[in-house]
Amino acid sequence: RAAADRHRPAFHFTSPAGWLNDPNGLTQRDGVFHLFYQFNPFAAVHDRIHWGHAISEDLVNWRDLPIALAPSEGPDVDGCWSGVLVYDGDVPTIVYSGRHGDQELPCLATGSGDLVTWTKDTGNPAIAAPPPDLDIVAFRDHCVWREGDTWRQIIGAGIRGQGGTALMYESPDLRQWNYLGPLLVGDSEDRPRDAPDWTGTMWECVDLFHLDADDVDRDVLVFSAWDEGVTHHPLYWTGHYEGVHFEPEALHRLDLGGRYFYAPQSMQDAGGRRVLFGWMQEGRPDAAAVAAGWSGVMSLPRVATLRADGSLHQAPAPEVSSLRQELLHDGPAEGASVRGDQLDLELDIDLPEGGSVELAVLASRQGDERSVYRVSRSDGEATILLDRSRSSLDSDVDTGELSGAFPMSGDRVAVRVLVDHSALEAFVNGVPLAARAYPTLRDAVGVEIQASGARVHLRAWEMSAAATPR
Ligand code: FRU
Repeated sequence: RAAADRHRPAFHFTSPAGWLNDPNGLTQRDGVFHLFYQFNPFAAVHDRIHWGHAISEDLVNWRDLPIALAPSEGPDVDGCWSGVLVYDGDVPTIVYSGRHGDQELPCLATGSGDLVTWTKDTGNPAIAAPPPDLDIVAFRDHCVWREGDTWRQIIGAGIRGQGGTALMYESPDLRQWNYLGPLLVGDSEDRPRDAPDWTGTMWECVDLFHLDADDVDRDVLVFSAWDEGVTHHPLYWTGHYEGVHFEPEALHRLDLGGRYFYAPQSMQDAGGRRVLFGWMQEGRPDAAAVAAGWSGVMSLPRVATLRADGSLHQAPAPEVSSLRQELLHDGPAEGASVRGDQLDLELDIDLPEGGSVELAVLASRQGDERSVYRVSRSDGEATILLDRSRSSLDSDVDTGELSGAFPMSGDRVAVRVLVDHSALEAFVNGVPLAARAYPTLRDAVGVEIQASGARVHLRAWEMSAAATPR
């Protein structure tokens, strides 16, 4: 990390240089986690995407490995777009979207045992075209799993005039695919376009998994709502999947930060946990990222579990806490004087109806710059709001407000905020809000807490940089 670059995160994964977007190919093999990601090594712009590769034993300290996939003559000449890694018997196999012109088609590559060296299939693309009887908006990104002795796959798509969808396929060998139909079709016409749960005209990065808890179990279908080149936000349906059909029960926002936690992908680790990463995209102009030489932050690893009502509870993986250094404060929040731009904050709030708490981070002494979380309860609803209107004196960066509701149980609210330079991740009673902020003042590193009709206990740690530090 160049010392001069105050916006570059220190304990979130970023690419060595250039551009990073979606997490791909998540897997744990022989105890080692593999994170592949959408990567342009040459410049901080989204162009001719490669698959970057990093490994970790604890999900927080990473080591860079050579690029796993690079565009080459053929169906992926213009980019190796998002996909997953599965094991075909002993053979690690990547299923990704090869881009050629403005079209993406499913491609395969098989890997060495250590997942370092990849050979593209000569039969690529594995599917020659989207289903001909559908008027398709786009067709890309993959979720692949084994069901009995066949493979199943869903591919993100959109059907013109109807909405986003996941198209279901089946194969005996990952190479010949039979189209079975849409798993579920969105309702892009039913909700207002600017709603935070608008389902988009196309679904990117579809991800289907099953979760079990004590008395509940659900299938969860995650997707990122997209429209005409605009990345809206990640959402998930809960419901029940059977055969070729997903019976939806409820639609939820996956992250209240919307586009700041985009294109997530999940994996089940060896311990049975559902671990997900998402792409925390930039909120600064393209030119600023190009000048900095890097763009895009990988979220911290999150563990998703099921609540009693069937919705998701998300929390940073416990491994994140291993980066905690000095305990800067442990007591009532009043009078706390915590400063830093590499922090882990835990607020234990007693929040009766009518109460509210303000937490300012990245705050300058004069108050010119600050990013302010407001957690409040009124009219029976609990909400969190991130006010970024004063997050930066730079008028070119995004300073839009981010907000949403979270569930209460009793009067207690558990807030966790991870401050990592320009990357901010908050969790409030298990509901996440990811964001970016770009302060300019040197002293914009303060933490300030104000409570009204509420009691706050604060624990604050300084966080160390993770390997690989940039
Ligand atoms: C989501 C996405 C995917 C695509 C990839 C390209 O951010 O647009 O749909 O496969 O990024 O890099």
